[in-house]
Amino acid sequence: MSSRIPLPYSPKILELFRNPKNLGPMKDATIQATAGSPACGDMISLYLKIKRENNKDIIEKATFESYGCAANIATASILTEMIKGKTLEEAWKISWKDLANQLGGLPAIKFHCSILAVGAFKRAVRAYYNKIKEHPSWLPKDLTREEKQTYEEEELIEKFYKKNE
Ligand code: FES
Repeated sequence: MSSRIPLPYSPKILELFRNPKNLGPMKDATIQATAGSPACGDMISLYLKIKRENNKDIIEKATFESYGCAANIATASILTEMIKGKTLEEAWKISWKDLANQLGGLPAIKFHCSILAVGAFKRAVRAYYNKIKEHPSWLPKDLTREEKQTYEEEELIEKFYKKNE
């Protein structure tokens, strides 16, 4: 008999885990970013198709690939839905808590899955502006908490796996 206790996932998380929206790579993506570590499998790749209209950068399409848990898949899926049609500036303001709220809550042990999804998005935004050599005034020069936590987590994972090689 298994001693594992199932996590209290919301119905929305379970639904998106079973039927994720916008899953898969995008051939004509404007930019792609990955967060997490391939070493442990907790990883998300985000693909964005961005079009510039009236000086605004609009997310036309967003897709993802996930190599993480159910919460990782659900948060990435809801993120792609929430950012679609928004400008990068609007979408930048979406926090990991917004994703968790949209999903009907996340177990505390799974907060980092949502942080990873937002971290991947913010990384994609910075990569996009680096690519076109622009820095809009709304984009903070310093890393946000979510970006820092994503980097910290990646470092921890790398260290852990190196130690156990
Ligand atoms: Fe690591 Fe969910 S992505 S536990």
